[in-house]
Amino acid sequence: MKLALVGAGKMGGAVLAGAVRAGLLDAADVGVYHPDPGRRAALAARFGATPLDDDGVHHADRVLVAVKPQSFESVAPLIAQRHASYVSLMAGVTTATLSKRLGSRKVVRAMPNLGAAVGASATALAWHPETPADDRDFARRLFQAVGTVHDVPESLFDAYTGLAGSGPAFAAVVAEALADGGVRVGFGRDVARDLARQVLLATARLLETKHPAELKDEVASPGGTAIAGIRTLERHRVRFALMDAIEEASDRARVLSRDGEDV
Ligand SMILES: NC(=O)c1ccc[n+]([C@@H]2O[C@H](COP(=O)([O-])OP(=O)(O)OC[C@H]3O[C@@H](n4cnc5c(N)ncnc54)[C@H](OP(=O)(O)O)[C@@H]3O)[C@@H](O)[C@H]2O)c1
Repeated sequence: MKLALVGAGKMGGAVLAGAVRAGLLDAADVGVYHPDPGRRAALAARFGATPLDDDGVHHADRVLVAVKPQSFESVAPLIAQRHASYVSLMAGVTTATLSKRLGSRKVVRAMPNLGAAVGASATALAWHPETPADDRDFARRLFQAVGTVHDVPESLFDAYTGLAGSGPAFAAVVAEALADGGVRVGFGRDVARDLARQVLLATARLLETKHPAELKDEVASPGGTAIAGIRTLERHRVRFALMDAIEEASDRARVLSRDGEDV
């Protein structure tokens, strides 16, 4: 078995599915643990993986911990092994805590975002200073299977949550507002929503190779429509609002992770 997955929910499942799709793992080489045997069998079957019981997960060499942070305290004694290597994607659980509770120095902490489900996560990675290179590489490849990966100091993980974790909600608000604007100027709701979605999709794709300012300048021709709209956005301090939202969300992530809650 190459990997034991503890917590095959939305995020653990998305990462497992992505790694299998990318050919990094064969589903049959992955074990899925859940304390309830029926649930364990169902989750394993969903991914074509192997169900793991308490003994199986206890002896796993490599574990992806993807339960809710609140469940970690009860799961840790079961999976803790000095020699084993761990990747955790639990929000707010530090590498120091992971290492202490799991009794291992091979610990990588990852913070993916919602995009993992569609192969478009931006994942932050940090690790215990003694984590061997091959364990770090495994974690990197695991999350590269569902998007991009950035090595981020742990002190910036809450800020990461503010931008990459909460960002999809902010972008969704923008999408909804663009669609409302479309309805306001006469489109039906479905068309307006599709236009807004395509605008965001095209912009995201173009930003893979262009600086945002370059893209904006290209669209905003002299005396044209886009620059007229941009002036309105500036009047309403949209940039400030978004920057402030990131800061506020980062502060909130700091409070929640300090209190041991999921973000
Ligand atoms: N969702 C995100 O966008 C996101 C982003 C970044 C990080 N995360 C992190 O990902 C983790 C999981 O979040 P999620 O959204 O994927 O939650 P989720 O869908 O509820 O997944 C948690 C899974 O863990 C299972 N589980 C509960 N207790 C368990 C135990 N003792 N042993 C093994 N499995 C157990 C649950 O099974 P049952 O359904 O039977 O309870 C469920 O399948 C959290 O720590 C969160 O901070 C999530």
